[in-house]
Amino acid sequence: MATLVGGITTSHVPIIGRAIAGNLQGDPYFKPFFDGFPPLRDWLGKVKPDVAVVISNDHGLNFFLDKMPTFAVGAAPEYRNADEGWGIPVMPLFQGEQDLSWHLIESVVGEDFDVTTCQEMMVDHGFTLPMALLWPGSQTWPVQVVPVIINTVQSPLPSAARCWKFGEAIGRAIRSWESDKRVLVIGTGGLSHQLDGERAGFINKDFDLKFMDSMVKDPTWVTKYSIDDLVELTGTQGVELLMWLTTRGALGGRVRDLHRNYHVPISNTAAATMVLEPA
Ligand code: DHB
Ligand code: FE
Repeated sequence: MATLVGGITTSHVPIIGRAIAGNLQGDPYFKPFFDGFPPLRDWLGKVKPDVAVVISNDHGLNFFLDKMPTFAVGAAPEYRNADEGWGIPVMPLFQGEQDLSWHLIESVVGEDFDVTTCQEMMVDHGFTLPMALLWPGSQTWPVQVVPVIINTVQSPLPSAARCWKFGEAIGRAIRSWESDKRVLVIGTGGLSHQLDGERAGFINKDFDLKFMDSMVKDPTWVTKYSIDDLVELTGTQGVELLMWLTTRGALGGRVRDLHRNYHVPISNTAAATMVLEPA
């Protein structure tokens, strides 16, 4: 069976793509964020994943308000990135791992998660920026991918409790895949941020740090909050923390946190990373 090597969770702020393109990693504004990544890359060098299941939210590049799946899974041979309006350079093609895509889809549908299966899918900054941060300068990516998309854009959103269970189902799917490949789960989004409206710029450091702690010590802690609660506590886009929670669900049982970084702000966002390994 496949090995689930662990999880990485990270924010995905578009301006980071501009900073990478402009070689601004050492700039005082960006340095505290980029400095969080070498430990992640060291860990990747040790665990050597073959495949990444990337859990993110689409921001309108692939799905728009007219058609919005709650949960979608890519089953494409390849995934293209495109200019989505943030001025981020378009990234090289990502190769799909279709055998895992279909196994994951069959497995979670078998557990009553009626996902939208996507044999064509584009990937936006929520997917590409974490990849560029983890494997900088790649023209061909060292992992094949399976994108998983969770709606955080248009109401109604899946609850935190539902995302936790979805994550658990993803974990069971990965661990029951007949393959000798090593699988990494990446969850991208958050932490607290709000891009528009009266509370634009809203950040809740206290809540973010509690949430990061809970990822290790009490991972279902955040499931007591409704989506409305989470919007109030973390901002309209802070609900992207659902990707972190889903990733944590996939890891199951106990985890060790090997690394954390938290920096406020990058653009409007509390930018954070964690590396979690099954204990
Ligand atoms: C920002 C953050 C996001 O998560 C996103 O998807 C777009 C923009 C920001 O803070 O600028
Ligand atoms: Fe986002």
